Amino acid sequence: MCGIVAFIGSRDASPLLLDGLRKLEYRGYDSAGLATVTIRENEKEGFVTCKRAKGKLVNLVELIEQSGAPGHLGIGHTRWATHGKPEEHNAHPHRDASGDIAVVQNGIIENHNYLRQDLEKQGVSFLSETDTEVIPHLISKELQRLLDLGKLPSGSVLLEAVIEVMKLLEGAYAIAVIWSKTPDSLVVVKKQTPLVIGLGEGEFFCASDMPALTGFTRTILPMEDDEMALLTPLGIELYDVNGQRKNRSPLFLSGVDQVIDKQNFRHFMLKEIHEQPDTAELWVSRYLSNDLETGAFLGGPYDAPIFESIEEIQILACGTSRHAGMVGAYLLEQFAGIRTSVFFASEFRYAPPPLSPNTLTIGVTQSGETADTLAALAMEHQRRTSLNNIEFASLQLGITNCPESSLALQVSNILDIGAGIEVGVAATKTFLGQLLAFYGLAINIAARRKSRSRTEIRNLCRELKAIPSQIKDLIKNHNQMAESLAHRFADTEDVVFLGRGINYPIALEGALKLKEISYIHAEGYPAGEMKHGPIALLDQRVPVISIATPGVVFEKVLSNAQEAKARDATLIGIGPKIPETEIFDFLLPIPKVSEWASPLLTVIPMQLLSYYIAAQRGLDVDQPRNLAKSVTVE
Ligand code: M6R
Repeated sequence: MCGIVAFIGSRDASPLLLDGLRKLEYRGYDSAGLATVTIRENEKEGFVTCKRAKGKLVNLVELIEQSGAPGHLGIGHTRWATHGKPEEHNAHPHRDASGDIAVVQNGIIENHNYLRQDLEKQGVSFLSETDTEVIPHLISKELQRLLDLGKLPSGSVLLEAVIEVMKLLEGAYAIAVIWSKTPDSLVVVKKQTPLVIGLGEGEFFCASDMPALTGFTRTILPMEDDEMALLTPLGIELYDVNGQRKNRSPLFLSGVDQVIDKQNFRHFMLKEIHEQPDTAELWVSRYLSNDLETGAFLGGPYDAPIFESIEEIQILACGTSRHAGMVGAYLLEQFAGIRTSVFFASEFRYAPPPLSPNTLTIGVTQSGETADTLAALAMEHQRRTSLNNIEFASLQLGITNCPESSLALQVSNILDIGAGIEVGVAATKTFLGQLLAFYGLAINIAARRKSRSRTEIRNLCRELKAIPSQIKDLIKNHNQMAESLAHRFADTEDVVFLGRGINYPIALEGALKLKEISYIHAEGYPAGEMKHGPIALLDQRVPVISIATPGVVFEKVLSNAQEAKARDATLIGIGPKIPETEIFDFLLPIPKVSEWASPLLTVIPMQLLSYYIAAQRGLDVDQPRNLAKSVTVE
């Protein structure tokens, strides 16, 4: 989704801004722009240069190569259209009428219509359809008021104006503002949308996401909600919304830089599919005890005594993360014996179920920035606090791949899935990491509650230890198989994915993966529901991909598949190569494992098949149309 980068220092700003924006490209965008401030010789005041281009960043780069954007201070933006089409005039930065103030914004200004109408009545003309454009006009008016009072242009005056304007803005947003009259000041604001300041030597950066700072600095100051900062080449001044100074020490990021490198893979998605054995290996080494005989099965942030008293679990997530939550709920209920519900975070925040006692709330988000998930968690915290359910208000667990994200600032117990940066918009290795986190939690709870015998728990742990090498073999064996099967989908317009029990969410995930990157219409269904409607869609043009692994619903899944075959659908199976699975026209074989462990394997052929179908169609697999990697607006 939209990305912000800002710089102030003594180096040329535009190459640094472009470099930062390049590192945010993977998040998805449809136009880009930047603005810088510089001073002409013999002049006191500066001027703003603003360049914007529709489409990929390369268009902006060309524009800047042709006509330049001088200055040591600047702001940059990649825009994912919300208000107004992805056209140049809607790209950020937006400026006031004089062109002296430039603003980039991530988020949504909810009352922009009202503000716009009000400004129009005062004679302001708008050049875009965006919600953002109200901001530079409002700042301009406020600055004029302050100058009329006799104040001289300075960073503090710009800050004062922004504080006043913030009082008028409703919504969740992060903004960065520059003004031609203050060529040594950058003002940034965070309100429920991520923003992090990076501290270099005599220079400062600001970005919506950590990857944009890679290679610039490892010293960071993540901004908190309702915080603003004035950045000059001399330092950072942090303020609250009332203009009161705040102090907080920066953090130093240890570990290796998250390098965004495709290596020899054609797409990031394919690379990330291949990284899954490492994700699983890391999880096994981090969380699965070597000594399964001791009964100390699993580490993780579950040591607080309060975890003993959990009676119920609710999982809040979106998209793929919700599918991981659904597998998690199956494990938690069926393996660990604890009542668990899964919610679309976007629905939960407006229609939560009645409060249940002793409930652990889990937020699952690979990016840790998904607005709906964060808001649902915050709403639940608030709801329990106001009803004096304080202990459980704070008992929230966040499962994420980004432990420096907003989720980690909001939720005290964080489980880091450690999958490394995921660049492809379609989640693959982070899904696997999320699944494993739920296996860990289910095992931990089953051991605590003694809902499973030590032997049962030990057996599942043993299976999980074998998963990394099984995934490795699966990827090796399926690469070619999926690639050649994908050719059969050249003219396919609809696909049905079927699964049951623990593999029903994998059918949903298979359908989501396929539609996201190949734009083929796909439905995931619990196999038993087919005959209640969707079977009407089937004929020889609609392939049916059915997950069939031995277990409680194996025979049922096979007979549901037969029903599809009787309607002439091409049947593709995902399951072990055994006589029963010979009913499939094509089989994508997986090793024979227990039903419990099967989703960790059945998802792999799904990912590969979707990938090859999209790649063969020549589509932009890593940045599919209309999608963003982290969805920071509601
Ligand atoms: O960052 P999150 O895990 O919270 O993201 C949630 C969804 O936006 C995400 O899973 C989306 O569905 C992916 N594009 C799936 O591949």
